[in-house]
Amino acid sequence: MAGRIPSQFIDELLNRVDIVDVINSRVPLRKAGREYTACCPFHNEKTPSFTVSPAKQFYHCFGCGAHGSAISFLMDYERLEFVDAVEELASLVGMTVPHEAASPQHKISRDLYDILELANRFYQEQLRQHANAAKAIGYLKQRGVSGESAAVFAIGYAPPGWDNVLRHLAGKNINEKQLLAAGLLIAKQGGGYYDRFRDRIIFPIRDRRGRVIGLGGRTLGDETPKYLNSPETEIFHKGKELYGLYEARKYSENLQRMIVVEGYMDVVALSQYGIKNVVATLGTATTKEHLEKLFRAVPEVVFCFDGDRAGRQAAWRALEVSLPLMSEGRQIKFMFLPEGEDPDTFVRQGGEAVFQQQLQQTQAFSNFFYQSLSKDVELNTIDGRSLLVEKAKPYLLKLPEGVFRHMMISKLAEISHVEPDKLSTLIFSDEGSKAVRQYAGSRLFKTGGPTPIRKLVQLILEMPSLAKYIEVEAIRGLNERGIPFLIELIETIRLKPHINCPGLLELWRGTENGELLTKLVKQPSTLTELELHLTDEDIKREFFDTYQWLKRESFKQRIDELTHKASLNVQEKQELRELSALLAANYIGDTAKEHDA
Ligand code: CTP
Ligand code: MN
Repeated sequence: MAGRIPSQFIDELLNRVDIVDVINSRVPLRKAGREYTACCPFHNEKTPSFTVSPAKQFYHCFGCGAHGSAISFLMDYERLEFVDAVEELASLVGMTVPHEAASPQHKISRDLYDILELANRFYQEQLRQHANAAKAIGYLKQRGVSGESAAVFAIGYAPPGWDNVLRHLAGKNINEKQLLAAGLLIAKQGGGYYDRFRDRIIFPIRDRRGRVIGLGGRTLGDETPKYLNSPETEIFHKGKELYGLYEARKYSENLQRMIVVEGYMDVVALSQYGIKNVVATLGTATTKEHLEKLFRAVPEVVFCFDGDRAGRQAAWRALEVSLPLMSEGRQIKFMFLPEGEDPDTFVRQGGEAVFQQQLQQTQAFSNFFYQSLSKDVELNTIDGRSLLVEKAKPYLLKLPEGVFRHMMISKLAEISHVEPDKLSTLIFSDEGSKAVRQYAGSRLFKTGGPTPIRKLVQLILEMPSLAKYIEVEAIRGLNERGIPFLIELIETIRLKPHINCPGLLELWRGTENGELLTKLVKQPSTLTELELHLTDEDIKREFFDTYQWLKRESFKQRIDELTHKASLNVQEKQELRELSALLAANYIGDTAKEHDA
């Protein structure tokens, strides 16, 4: 790594600095016994639970758990990177940070910054001076980039030709090896080098302090690749850098929210339209490092993607990466643009107001999360809801403990009709895990689960009045083991409409079917393993769904039988026609609704 700070220096620094001074000048402290207290600057509170210990040179908040040394305080409070926090503290006590300047590694890095700075200055000049400048400026104009934006983002132009940068920087005593290390040249196979960027618009990528660390180049036409970036170098790591972060923070140190888009031009266009808090990833998916950088700068991150499938997929990936980082006070939202638009085209078409309006319609993290997971899940069935719990679990396990996780659970509780406390146990304890697995493993029509017939019996035991809805004739022909008993059960209830579950158990006591009934009553487990709060409506819906399925199976079986017969009589032909028509017309529709009506 560039410019490592020796650890002895850090030790020495932390010895000289007094954490009480550092914090007190930012958050006024009150003495309380041997320690100092204040209302915690990292979460909202009315009574102080933030304490600073002069003896330990450590702070700790009993409310939100924030803790650390003077360095971490500055990193979190001032949103500084490690090195900058160290520099800040060092200047406070009059120490100079030894950036291991003597090490040759660091020397190279230093040079790379200088080289890239010089190269970018050269590209900026070319945009004004080169014979092709008019063409390059014409391109930027045609894309709607103002001169002012070009200056803010230090946009330049790499002219055509194989050795422009090579010659220009050679004149400044920079050799080919160094230029190669800076990513500006490409080595030829047979020896020698040539310019990496030729006839392209150049977007410099700058680090937090404004130093150019890499470049992105776009063709003026349709040549491929459309964008070409610096390779990974000593100082440039695509997976960690964000285009536009420096410019956004230069505009304001005190941003509350950062919008993350995909392209250079998106950042430039939005900024030009007054939306300055924008950054772009550099042709890579969002990484943990990106997010850490963002959260060091702002508490709220809005991902802006296309509304198409690819956009939603990218958003989901970003969500997955962010799960472990979702601690107190951090927020992530998702914004989807109309299909076919990117932020650049969108803001040019509608202007700032329309973009801001769209920004108001962002989707909260929890919303996007549960909506995506529920996509193919029928939330109006118990099975569907438990499936959702099962699907959500591995993700929820990645969330750090705290308010955000709590809120995510509450939301799931709302959707799944499971009490939040139960849900927490189910998800975060080992026993709970087993229960969820068992339940999800026994979903209605999955092999290995209870047969639909058993399920009907179970539901009828739960609510005997349901029996009257079953047309015995429709299922009598079904060649399934449990059918005769199911029919017996139904007919018994027809005769004794007021019988309840214990009454039914009594009737079959001592028989094989009696044992089955007892088992099904004792194990409403398949239904309530999750302690799902079953309403009458849930039971009814479950019953009619299962019954419809059974009826359909029965029809299919009969049709099969008939079609395999050598010859059909008039009656049979009529029956076949009717059954096929019924199946085709999906007659076995929503019986539940009919009956509820
Ligand atoms: N990108 C890249 N290399 C490519 C293509 C894309 O690095 N070959 C990165 C660039 O940062 C680019 C972003 O991915 O800005 C988005 O690419 P794309 O959507 O293809 O382009 P736009 O940004 O819409 O480019 P433009 O509007 O200039 O056509
Ligand atoms: Mn675009």
